Amino acid sequence: MKAAVLKKFIEVFGDDKNANVYFAPGRVNLIGEHTDYNGGHVFPCALTIGTYGVARKRDDNKLRFYSMNFENLGVIESSLDDLKPYPEADWTNYPKGVIWAFGEKGMTVPCGMDILLNGNIPNGSGLSSSASVEVLTGFILKDLFGFDVTNQDLALIGQFSENKYNKVNCGIMDQFAIAMGKENHAIFLDTADLSYEYAPIKLEGAKIVIACSNKKRGLGDSKYNERRFECETALREIQQVTKVNTLGDLNEKSFEQFKSIIKSDVRVKRAKHAVYENQRTIKAVEALKANDIALFGELMNASHVSLRDDYEVTGIELDTLVEEAWKVEGVIGSRMTGAGFGGCTVSIVKDEAIDTFIEQVGKAYEAKIGYAADFYVVEIGDGPKKL
Ligand code: GLA
Repeated sequence: MKAAVLKKFIEVFGDDKNANVYFAPGRVNLIGEHTDYNGGHVFPCALTIGTYGVARKRDDNKLRFYSMNFENLGVIESSLDDLKPYPEADWTNYPKGVIWAFGEKGMTVPCGMDILLNGNIPNGSGLSSSASVEVLTGFILKDLFGFDVTNQDLALIGQFSENKYNKVNCGIMDQFAIAMGKENHAIFLDTADLSYEYAPIKLEGAKIVIACSNKKRGLGDSKYNERRFECETALREIQQVTKVNTLGDLNEKSFEQFKSIIKSDVRVKRAKHAVYENQRTIKAVEALKANDIALFGELMNASHVSLRDDYEVTGIELDTLVEEAWKVEGVIGSRMTGAGFGGCTVSIVKDEAIDTFIEQVGKAYEAKIGYAADFYVVEIGDGPKKL
């Protein structure tokens, strides 16, 4: 891949003098969905697929971007003197947002750059291609200009740029999972205070399989913000009767005790998901530590049911993929992953069942939905690096 991106860089930008090659992963969340903006826990991991980037400094203030994933867009040019987001800047609003965010944090980028990207994360799949580009950009800025930032800072800056520049109100999970990724480990992150722990994922005789629904989604046009608002409203209602900072401060028992104060049935369901999902995530990590992978799988399944029935963020595509997966012998657990409304499912499948899984789920999906799903057997990789 390094040779391929350098070759393209020369083709697009003339030569590869002073150019460096970088990589940042994509991520998949094993459990803990829609908990990261509710002060709960998440359990994602970085993948070995992700975004490759070639970058070098320029003598002027120009920013010249090229993506091998959107070759039809050609070179998209902007300037450090005008760092506003524009619709026609398309995907470059992500790296531009990070450059802007560094400036907001007192780290002004001193000169322009030539940047080429090539991602092997399926676009719009819910494996965080945009967070991968954000963390990659931050990592490039740190390396080229020597900014004193940790990988955790890169996650926070990425999220800040996504919230404030690209106006997507996401939580911290995606950028954190990518910036802090560790080979063969998932990250048990408490989003209330960003304390975290790496948990080894030793799936003896099984693998993580991602099924991509190919139903495109973007957080901006989804009901993501509506769900956030429903949870925030439910929290304010609960705060009238008990002292909590987030829904993540509640457990099943305290939620059942206080839920009658929430004035709408829909909000009760949303808050219930946030509280129970957080508890499921804590239990899932305990199960994993106790080598009880069957229980881990059951909790994944329960997570999907809650996202389907209480949080209502699945849809027929993700439900079909998961419900068909549950029918396959050798599937330990299966659920939607990411924001929902399209995107991917994540399943833990025994080695000997993987081929049957892909065939059976793939056939049933295409028959019901009318187009095919894509399947990826993935591995857990490290965070960003220079190649
Ligand atoms: C998206 C957001 C994350 C998180 C998930 C749902 O991926 O970017 O912050 O909220 O949805 O768990």
